[in-house]
This record gives sequence, C-alpha cells and structure tokens, in this order.
Amino acid sequence: MIKHLYINGQWKEAASNMELTSPFTGEVIAKVAQADEADTDEAIQAARAAAVAMASMPAHRRSAILEKAASLLEDRKEEMSRILALEAAKPIKTARGEIARTIQTYTFSAMEACRIHGETVPLDAAPGGEGRIAFTLRKPIGVVGAITPFNFPFNLVAHKVGPAIAAGNTVVLKPASQTPLSALALADIFAEAGLPAGALNIIPGKGSIVGEKLVKDPRIAAITFTGSPDVGIAMKNKAGLKRVTLELGSNSGLIIDDTADITQDLVDRCVLGAFAFSGQVCISIQRIFVHAVKFNEFAERFKEATEKLIVGDPFDEHTDLSAMISVKEAERMQEWVDSAVARGSVVLTGGEAIRPGVFPPTILTNVPKQEPVSCQEVFGPIVTLSAFDTLDEAIHAVNDSRYGLQAGIYTRDIQAAMRAAEQLEVGGVMINDFPTFRVDHMPYGGVKESGFGREGIKYAIEEMTELKLISIKL
Ligand code: SIN
Repeated sequence: MIKHLYINGQWKEAASNMELTSPFTGEVIAKVAQADEADTDEAIQAARAAAVAMASMPAHRRSAILEKAASLLEDRKEEMSRILALEAAKPIKTARGEIARTIQTYTFSAMEACRIHGETVPLDAAPGGEGRIAFTLRKPIGVVGAITPFNFPFNLVAHKVGPAIAAGNTVVLKPASQTPLSALALADIFAEAGLPAGALNIIPGKGSIVGEKLVKDPRIAAITFTGSPDVGIAMKNKAGLKRVTLELGSNSGLIIDDTADITQDLVDRCVLGAFAFSGQVCISIQRIFVHAVKFNEFAERFKEATEKLIVGDPFDEHTDLSAMISVKEAERMQEWVDSAVARGSVVLTGGEAIRPGVFPPTILTNVPKQEPVSCQEVFGPIVTLSAFDTLDEAIHAVNDSRYGLQAGIYTRDIQAAMRAAEQLEVGGVMINDFPTFRVDHMPYGGVKESGFGREGIKYAIEEMTELKLISIKL
C-alpha cells in the first residue's frame, strides 16, 4: 500500500517513498510518499490560494465543517484507534482514549469558531483620542505551517488543524515521519466534511526539507510545532517575523508532601502519569519528590502497582505498555539507566530492556541530579523518586530544570498548595493531581525550554489570528 501526498484536495505521487514499519513487529506496514521541495512549494501555493476562500467563509460554516469532521471521526473511531496502535504501537485502550480526545478537540474548535471576537477600546483615555469609537477584530493570519510529533498523531494534529480552520486559516501539515498514517486519514474526513480543496494539505517528508521550507517560506504566516527543544529553538531562530508556537519537552516534577494521604487513587495516577504510552508524553511524570516521612510507604505501593502493568502487543486489550517508537529510543533508555546505576542509583523495578525496542516501566532512586534520567527529558518509561525534608527544597528541585511545562503537588495544606502554585516555574500547576493532567480546551504550554505560546483551542486561535484596530472618528 502506497500512501500519497495530499495537496490541493488531490492525492499526489512523490518521487520517493519511505517504508513505514510497525514499532512492535518490525514489519513493513505501508510505503509513504515523501514530499520534496517542489511538493512542499505546491502545497504552500495551494494553501495560499485557498486562504482567500477560508478567510471569507462565515463562522457558522467553518464551525459546521469542524463539527462534521468530529462526527465522521466518531463514526470511524475504532478504525482510527487501530491506525494508532499499528503505526505508533499505542496500546489499543490508550489509542481509543486519544481518539475520544481528538473528537473533543475538533468539537471545541467548532464551538470556538463562533466565538472569535475583538473588543471596544476606549481611545479617549489618552488626550487626543477623544471623539472616536474604536474596536478590534481578529483576522485570520493566512497559511499555518503545522509540524507534529509521533506521540499523539491524531490529537496533537487536531490541536493545530482545529484552531487554524476555526480561525479561517489554511494549513500545510507535516506529520511525524513515524506516524503519517493518522494524519493522512484526515484528508478524506475533512473533504467529506466540506473543507475546500487546498485548505488542508498533508505532506509527510523530512524535517530538513519540508520542515525547513515551511519555516523559511514567506507565504507561511505562522508555524505551530510540537517536538524537541533543540528543533523548536532552531525553528524560532530561522522563522524571522513569522508567528511561532512551540510545545517542547519537559522533565515534569510531582511533589507529594507530608500532609498528603497515599491513597490508591494517588498511586494509580502516578503509575498512569509516569508510564502511559511508555512515558512518550511531554507531560509524563519524570521526577517524583516525596516528603521523607511518606517516602517508604509511597515507594513500596508505587513499585507494587507498577509491577502489575502488562507489557505486550498494542492490539491486546490488556496491554498497558508496548514497544517504544523505535529500537534506538529503547537503547537510549538502557544507556541512561546504566549511566545512573553506574553513579549510585538504585533500580526499584525494571531497568533492563525486555527485547529490542521494548523497555519496561522503570523506577530509580538515589539519582544524582546531573544524570540524564533526571535533568534531560526522558520521554520514556523511567521515573525517579527522591525524598525531601522541606517544601522549599522540593519546589527548588522541580524548578532546577531547563524545562517548565507542567508540575503537580499532592497536599492537604492550602498554604503549601498556594506556595507551589506561585513558585513553580511552569505553564500549569496541578494541585492534588499529576502534571500529566490535560483536557483539551485548557491553556497548555510551557516556560523556559518547554516552549513559547499556548495551545488549547481558544488560546491557539489567539496565536493564529491578527488583531486589527478600527477607529471611527465621529
Ligand atoms: C504532549 O505530549 O505534548 C501532549 C500531552 C497531552 O496532550 O496529553
């Protein structure tokens, strides 16, 4: 099966195709066309041409298209979940959760399409501004270049395509090389939903060719990227005056203080937050800081619950974790664990690859903070546990990071909760929950090397529209 490029409402062959393999079985599952510079140029041209129709399309029509796309996804949700399990090795029950969220993201986009508005501006607050009525409008920005990661191939695409269409923009989408099938499945859905040809173009290809052109081409007005900090920072440096939204990495921290009850719910949330989709989630829990008086109780129960996780075939209904996205990634896990162990860390559970590409849920203690498993983004099924004595120490430890996406604190002390909310250097603080919490309409994004700008439909629309002032002199 060859999957072609989707440009201007048509499937188009490319000069070269890439073999896509299943991360779990290693078998070839498809051949995927790879866009070159000329294909990328054609996609940008198509998006530019369609921008006129999209900018003048009424909000109720944009909303109806998004609502229809959501309902078509609902009709085909099992098929879509299976695409995720196949190309990303996302366990099928987790994959179904992603599709349910994707449907919500497009539904929220449909709602927000009807709520884009400006505000009146009291110009007479400044001398010389008298005798005028002024207001702002939010205008579509034009063509959005969307570059998406492998870990949520449906929902993180929806977080870019949904708001872009809601705002009356057009899109050129470069999906992750490892997960293009999910993105390409959207082509038929949006065509059937009534999106004009050229408004959504989907072009798998290399970052160095497609990504590079999207970032540099002056016809692209905004770039929205989810991926690694190094790539994101390089993009921002090359993007010139383009609007850039970057959702980058994290080594998210969770604090459990001395007042927190170590309930089953807390333990289960930690297991889910650390190991869902093998930790290949930007807000996966990577570092847990537990007050010394609760440390042993938590460590024991966390280990016990972790050891119940089932590692296996992504299509098996019981599987909790499957293969990582590539053998190379699992090898990196092994290297990072070995390095921590060589410097005195203790493996509470896991720590040895099960087979090439499959790494078990792993808990480490006594990890020096300079170790990659602590100070870099693991993006895998490894979590570190550390004990602390004072809240200041725990907040300092969470903040002692290049990253700042989300953090969490479990406490029954309102003062501690509010101190953490004030002092944690992150884009979102979850009190009495894990840092992995996300629902799709909330503002989502980070500080420091975790990114720039915010997603969450309403907030993404702000990034994808231009504010225009109208002043009427009376
Ligand atoms: C991410 O990995 O950036 C997204 C996490 C989520 O949407 O839950």
